[in-house]
Amino acid sequence: MPIDLRSDTVTRPTPPMLDAMFSASVGDDVFGEDPTINSLEAMAARLFGMEAALYCPSGTMSNQIAIKCHTQPGDEVICERNAHVYIYEGGGIAFNSGSQVRALEGNRGRITAEQVSMAINPDDVHRARTSLVTLENTSNRGGGSCYDLEEIRRIRQVCEDNHLKLHLDGARLFNALVATGRSAKDFGGVFDSISVCLNKGMGCPIGSILLGPATFIKQARRVRKVFGGGMRQAGFMAASGIYALENNIDRLAVDHAHARHIAAALEKKDFVKSLLPVETNLIIFELKESTDCARSLSATLREKGILALAISANQIRMVTHLDISPAMVDEVVGVIEQL
Ligand SMILES: Cc1ncc(COP(=O)(O)O)c(C=O)c1O
Repeated sequence: MPIDLRSDTVTRPTPPMLDAMFSASVGDDVFGEDPTINSLEAMAARLFGMEAALYCPSGTMSNQIAIKCHTQPGDEVICERNAHVYIYEGGGIAFNSGSQVRALEGNRGRITAEQVSMAINPDDVHRARTSLVTLENTSNRGGGSCYDLEEIRRIRQVCEDNHLKLHLDGARLFNALVATGRSAKDFGGVFDSISVCLNKGMGCPIGSILLGPATFIKQARRVRKVFGGGMRQAGFMAASGIYALENNIDRLAVDHAHARHIAAALEKKDFVKSLLPVETNLIIFELKESTDCARSLSATLREKGILALAISANQIRMVTHLDISPAMVDEVVGVIEQL
């Protein structure tokens, strides 16, 4: 089996997670009758101190549902230029919501209150109506960077002053919480909606949770159905989410330590031009040679039993996760040292 560092989505359920899934009580969730999904949603809402939650098949769907609920066709959504909602969701903001994007140049995926304030369109018939700001924490293309909560609070104030909604793509929010020592409630208190993924570092086979006020989640439930995301006896899957919330949050610190260990080995190599600061479980580095060198290094690594992702002609991404053991990290470091 290769050591798979392409993404934290490649994990397989552990035996205790599988046990929890096999023994789940289930019902038809479109009728609201799946007790395990109902428990997961209540548990997540409690954790974030938000009114309600909705279990969704994927992070893409929970982000897109939120954007649909917060906007009208012809609106403008402010986000960072490398935001997942903008570059990796198949043009979903235009496709699903008929809205356009104002993409801002951030710092490793993060934007500031001042930038948001400058990007809001005036109330003018020529201009799209700015209605939503979406942030991403941690930032995927920013190499797992974490927002400063104080900056988010300043962005919140700008949103309130200008009647904008604030959504968080928190696909890897638990990584940010563990890395910064902040609580889920700190985040629940500043956003109108949050999506958190269970299918990444948390080790579940599928699933994302959308959180927000009860009226918003009622509307989101309707949109989820329209998007084809109304699931039936998905409590078998939701049981993996309950297991993950109970057991897999604190251990993310191990993934972060593993990422730092691998990054330290990469930093010493001549072929590495630069490495984004490693704050959580993502490692993104740029190579010195330019023409398609990322593909060739990932092919070399593959031959040595390590899978890494070429994310551009000269950038590689490695991600640590639940299925990467300390022995595997040592092996990766050994291979890097030999390159
Ligand atoms: C920041 C971010 N948001 C959203 C998603 C979408 O999640 P999913 O793959 O469950 O659709 C991802 C997936 O990698 C992501 O990295």
